[in-house]
Amino acid sequence: MAKQRIISADATDPIDESSALSLRPTALAGYIGQSKLVEKLRIALGAAKQRGEAMEHVLLHGPPGLGKTTLAHVIANEMGSSLTVSSGPAITKGADLVGTLTKLQAHDVLFIDEIHRMPVAVEEYVYSAMEDFKIDFVVDSGMHAKTITLPLKPFTLIGATTRAGLLSGPMRSRFGITHHLDFYTHDDTLAILRRSAGLLGVESPGDEPLGVIAARSRGTPRVANRLLRRVRDFAAMRRDGRFDRDTVAEALKLEGIDELGLDEIDRLYLGAIGKVYRGGPVGLEAIAATLSEDAGTLEDMVEPYLLQIGFLARTRRGRQLTQKAVQHLGLTDISIDESEPLFD
Ligand SMILES: Nc1ncnc2c1ncn2[C@@H]1O[C@H](COP(=O)(O)OP(=O)(O)O)[C@@H](O)[C@H]1O
Ligand SMILES: [Mg+2]
Repeated sequence: MAKQRIISADATDPIDESSALSLRPTALAGYIGQSKLVEKLRIALGAAKQRGEAMEHVLLHGPPGLGKTTLAHVIANEMGSSLTVSSGPAITKGADLVGTLTKLQAHDVLFIDEIHRMPVAVEEYVYSAMEDFKIDFVVDSGMHAKTITLPLKPFTLIGATTRAGLLSGPMRSRFGITHHLDFYTHDDTLAILRRSAGLLGVESPGDEPLGVIAARSRGTPRVANRLLRRVRDFAAMRRDGRFDRDTVAEALKLEGIDELGLDEIDRLYLGAIGKVYRGGPVGLEAIAATLSEDAGTLEDMVEPYLLQIGFLARTRRGRQLTQKAVQHLGLTDISIDESEPLFD
């Protein structure tokens, strides 16, 4: 179900992906928000170029749709080098990776999305590739076994993951820069929407309607851009192109998105804890079973934003709604014990 949600931060829709390409900033200067990360990268890029070296390996983690893939493109661009895109699940055996790595030119960037899903056997090759720019592999077996060392050109590995916790310690420690991407502030989301509106040819909608979209974008650029396109279409089809506050409100209502940016899935999730488990605490697996949804999907796609807005608490005994969520949902008959000890 998560695949169909308009709010989904996952890039599953091909139209989304192609328009994402055209909306993607290509230089660091056009990358809005995440100022600490941008500053770290500016320094690392400058230093690498000054020394004539490849840039340090970078690990980006955080919820989907916040600009990890975009940054990989930006970094390759800033280095004036090529980007090769791969993903953890696509690299099934060492040979896949060896092929990719040996094709890289000096200072190229290799982006591995969902790096936490890379098989352990492949990880071993990555270590020496990252540290010493070489790969050792064993050919033949038994008496005839010998190790062949393949030299690689100095490259930059950019790993992205929604779950840094699932990455092995040795893997994590090999990245020079590790950064967690946060949800965007309202102002940054608005700035992204202004830029995208210009690129999509939406005529000067003004900050008021864009502000309404920003407020419902859950701090996620991919969601902001997607809602912007839906509103643009609604304006064109139903409002003679008039793009004002009312148009935005109507269009988003049609999409089932409330004033906090919560959609049907969020309400189902919150409703399950509220109605079936009387507000919790309840284990994630139980919620997942109730909704017939994958626990990992809920953890990656639904929970981060609910935690961020203080609707959900992760306690030692499981997930629990907060008073704020109970009020928003109008579940007046539930009493919440907010003294439940929180999980770290
Ligand atoms: N900092 C940013 N400034 C402007 N647009 C952004 C920014 N981050 C993300 N976007 C937009 O959001 C879309 C999704 O970003 P993406 O890099 O694919 O996210 P992720 O890889 O983290 O899931 C991009 O296509 C781009 O249009
Ligand atoms: Mg991505």
